[in-house]
Amino acid sequence: MEKEVIGEIAGGQELLVNRTGILLNPELGAELIQGAKETIPSSEGNGENMEMERAEYAQEGLPIGSYPSPVNGSETESPEESGFDGRMAVLLDKLGERLAFERQGTRLYEAFIQKIEAMPIEDTDAPGADDLRHICNEELEHFKLLQQAIVELGGDATVQTPSADVAGVLSHGALQIMSDPRTTIAQALQAALNAELADNDGWNMLQEVSEQLGHTDLAKQCAKAYEEEQEHLENVRTWLSNMILSEAVGQEAQTKTTAKRSNKSSRRGAKKKSGSNKRRKK
Ligand SMILES: [Fe+2]
Ligand SMILES: [Fe+2]
Repeated sequence: MEKEVIGEIAGGQELLVNRTGILLNPELGAELIQGAKETIPSSEGNGENMEMERAEYAQEGLPIGSYPSPVNGSETESPEESGFDGRMAVLLDKLGERLAFERQGTRLYEAFIQKIEAMPIEDTDAPGADDLRHICNEELEHFKLLQQAIVELGGDATVQTPSADVAGVLSHGALQIMSDPRTTIAQALQAALNAELADNDGWNMLQEVSEQLGHTDLAKQCAKAYEEEQEHLENVRTWLSNMILSEAVGQEAQTKTTAKRSNKSSRRGAKKKSGSNKRRKK
């Protein structure tokens, strides 16, 4: 289908017509609504039937997966003898969740690096490939840390735990956005921001669970990873917010907004400086 171009925007990019809105042509819009009303549904039933079907499946109570078992555990051993009780199963489930997330996180940033190298932009607010590589390497380190922790606790790091399954499905959208050749750097940052927000909460929770169950060393490792994740989040948030502000209000207005913001934050107290941004200024 031939694309309709109505002009040019800064940078020589074509301005295409977005025809997704119904208000672009009210007459055809009304015709469309009338057509939908007159169309006979292709299948029987309605929303109510769908709700009943869903409720029936939910009442069956089938789990999304089962908790992992110890690698060398004997079936005759009691939980006290093997040291593998329900609490350990929950910890291994959550470790498996973070493992799945960090694996996906590494792939997410690998795709981001590829995107930024393929379409370098002049925007100084955007991250550089080195900034992203730094985060990517830390995601991989976190993955290895979790792999080792699972093995040391007597688990199997290749097991797909129920929470890992859920995390895998959740993070799938971010990877799709990142690897889509049509998405911009700002849109890729939006996907990374969502991932980092979830990742931060995930590490915080894992640290708490490890502490509560008496795994002090693991809790310390989680605290360190959480600290690094906080830096990722801060950087991604800053890059995205600056890029959107630049695009929306222009560089001059953004400088004023940023100055206002930094005045506010300096009043709130000194905020931790972004290590990655510091590296770029060298
Ligand atoms: Fe991570
Ligand atoms: Fe991260």
